[in-house]
Amino acid sequence: TATQVVIVGGGPAGLMLSHLLHNAGIDSVVIDNRTVEQIETTHRAGILERDSVRLLVDSGVSDRVLTDGHEHAGIALRFGGLSHRIDFQKLVGASCWLYPQTAVFVDLHAARVRDGGDLRYGITDTEVADVVDAPTVDYTDADGSRHRITARIVVGADGSRSVCRPLIDQATQYFREYPFAWFGVMVQAPPSAPELIYARAPEGFALISQRTDTVQRMYFQCDPREDPSTWSDDRIWAQLHGRLAGHDGFELKEGPVLERTVLPFRSFVQSPMRHGNLLLAGDAAHTVPPTGAKGLNLALADVRVLAEVLDRTINKSDDAALDTYTERALSRVWKAQHFSYWMTTMLHHVDGTTDFDDLRQLGELNALVSSEAGSTYLAEGYTGWPQH
Ligand code: DHB
Repeated sequence: TATQVVIVGGGPAGLMLSHLLHNAGIDSVVIDNRTVEQIETTHRAGILERDSVRLLVDSGVSDRVLTDGHEHAGIALRFGGLSHRIDFQKLVGASCWLYPQTAVFVDLHAARVRDGGDLRYGITDTEVADVVDAPTVDYTDADGSRHRITARIVVGADGSRSVCRPLIDQATQYFREYPFAWFGVMVQAPPSAPELIYARAPEGFALISQRTDTVQRMYFQCDPREDPSTWSDDRIWAQLHGRLAGHDGFELKEGPVLERTVLPFRSFVQSPMRHGNLLLAGDAAHTVPPTGAKGLNLALADVRVLAEVLDRTINKSDDAALDTYTERALSRVWKAQHFSYWMTTMLHHVDGTTDFDDLRQLGELNALVSSEAGSTYLAEGYTGWPQH
């Protein structure tokens, strides 16, 4: 079979691109080696930037983010035993939305099914070839038959273990590792606060996020080699209580731990994001550490730009359009890389550092929360920089 665009990867980035291309009259085939059920049940982050919400609503995916999601007009930074609210609405006139990535995926999948999208999940052995001249994508379906799709364009939206990424010739890879990871838990408890709490304590970072009235998402900094299965509920709660402790009467509400995982933690960028007729989007091209929840938002920003570039390429025969993609996408990627790195280093404890480092970190946090300029920088990055 032949199609205009093959999208390798049917997560939020791949599906959003397929949806935007459909709106532009461009057909695409989406393939993914996972099943829909696997993707729907893998917990990821939960915060959408203002423009991610707009993209979902204005492009006609779904309004469910507005009805079932929760608008958050600020966050709390907690350190020295006190919470300091950063008021996004007051500082930049914007909010973010608590709406889990799994819900974003469900909405996008439903929209593509509604609009007759060609989605092929649960395939194996994907092979992409000839990306400079006449791209082909081969795969094996669930019955074991081999298929070939020929395409004008191939998009790699296939995540951090991308099979497309290595096909970008002469690419440069930029890495940063961190000496810690996050221990993530889903707990059965009511919310402890109306908004998210990013906490910095002498023992390290903790984040109190939310999912529903009865289920909450929490994280705390841990050793990257930690085995979550050996941790009892009591031991997990002791860590969280210790890091949220304070003098203001704040109370962390407890309950059974439903799920526990250790999340990888690194910064990564590959440049360029295009080779011939192959273009990368989302985690296939870049990874951010989770602090600040930029990963999904960045993937959606990539495909918004990419949909426009492909519209010019395919509908308007503008041969120069593909050349503009890397630079436009990477300008936002590096802003988000810095933001995620900055939020991370401002709030995490590194073993083996000195009292100077601890006190400098508190100095940075105190300067931030007491300065309108400092707080505005955080609010602007957190709710998302304007798109261009
Ligand atoms: C969540 C995850 C994050 O990394 C973050 O910065 C905020 C929220 C979450 O899973 O809810």
